[in-house]
Amino acid sequence: MSITVLPTPARLGHRAFALLEDLNQYTDEPGKLTRLYLSPAHRQAADWTRQAMEAAGLVARIDALGSVQGRKASARPQAPSLMIGSHIDTVKDGGRFDGALGVVAGIVVAEVLRDARLELPFPLEILAFGDEENVRFPTNLSTSAALAGDYRMEWLDGTDAGGERLRDALVAFGGDPEGIAALARPPGSVAAYLELHIEQGPLLEAHDETVGIVTAINAQCRARVRVVGEAGHAGTIPMTLRKDALAASAEMVLALERVAAGHTDAVATTGVLMVDPGATNVVPGAVDFTIDFRAPRDATLASMDAAIAKAFHEIAARRGVGVTITPYARLAATPMSEPLMQALEAGIARTGANLTARRMPSGAGHDAMAMARLCPAAMLFVRNEKGISHSPAENMTEADAGIAIGVLLQSVLDIARQKT
Ligand code: GLV
Ligand code: MN
Ligand code: MN
Repeated sequence: MSITVLPTPARLGHRAFALLEDLNQYTDEPGKLTRLYLSPAHRQAADWTRQAMEAAGLVARIDALGSVQGRKASARPQAPSLMIGSHIDTVKDGGRFDGALGVVAGIVVAEVLRDARLELPFPLEILAFGDEENVRFPTNLSTSAALAGDYRMEWLDGTDAGGERLRDALVAFGGDPEGIAALARPPGSVAAYLELHIEQGPLLEAHDETVGIVTAINAQCRARVRVVGEAGHAGTIPMTLRKDALAASAEMVLALERVAAGHTDAVATTGVLMVDPGATNVVPGAVDFTIDFRAPRDATLASMDAAIAKAFHEIAARRGVGVTITPYARLAATPMSEPLMQALEAGIARTGANLTARRMPSGAGHDAMAMARLCPAAMLFVRNEKGISHSPAENMTEADAGIAIGVLLQSVLDIARQKT
């Protein structure tokens, strides 16, 4: 299966960047790109995505959890579908490409197929998930997990920093808690999930390579930690009598760092820390902070988990404060599908652009982790500037985006060839 006149990578990149510019006008914070799950900007972005999918010839809808699902019909409607997806939520003050690139790439692929009037021997689905970053609520790739039948209904009771429950935010968004169970796809109904994503790391750039193929996604754990000490007067309580929750938390953050440093390729981060009551002249009485730690192997993550808990409890005991660690997200290391990696390699070869196909692990989490529980999944990475991501400085070239979308398109055609 082939297309006689394929748009050049330059045209594909140009089209993707035009779509990204449209999509990224939707933000909850003017002057920054912040699009948290179920926020007003997420709703606007989901509406825009649905319209863009329809314009690309797909039948599209916003599902019960706010994901946008578009489907290109096939003469073989019963054949297991091929999915291309990523996410349209962002971190706070995030970048323009993380997630969004993969969604517009799927739309561009659909546009090319529409223009070429090409029928695939299976339905093609484009997915725009909404809760990949897991920044707002204590969830775990919840929107993609729902398709794999892994949504946990207790997630609906989770609250954001402002105390709003996920269930209420979902209803306000226009979603439907009652419709979540029906989002689960029957086993065998999806043949493959492909995700194009910026690398978010420096490897491809360092090797002067455009694209890479993800072999596996690292295991990760996220937890909320609460340290309770004793608030008091900053001028009168002697140092020896203090139960300073922030000083204890500071030691814990450094212990976390030490644990990660003790393992090859492991990382650990505290990204949120809130001090109560938060006044210059008050000894901090309580602190809430997050921990996020990751490793290529599940066994490493488990031993980090134990070491972190041990260190935190030792620090708490020595300082006379209480500590509770509440994990809310745990994802096993997720290998990608070997046949799909080979399909991406075939796609790379077919572009004829003399690209190398580096195989590499992913340190970042992706919807592909959740989707791998439903169907074979694979990811194509594309280089981004200095590997910077989760930052407004995130950047990539239009040319690289075009090359990567060309590879994705060729991979879809290659899979179609095998099924014809
Ligand atoms: C998602 O971006 C992650 O935190 O890995
Ligand atoms: Mn992402
Ligand atoms: Mn991200």
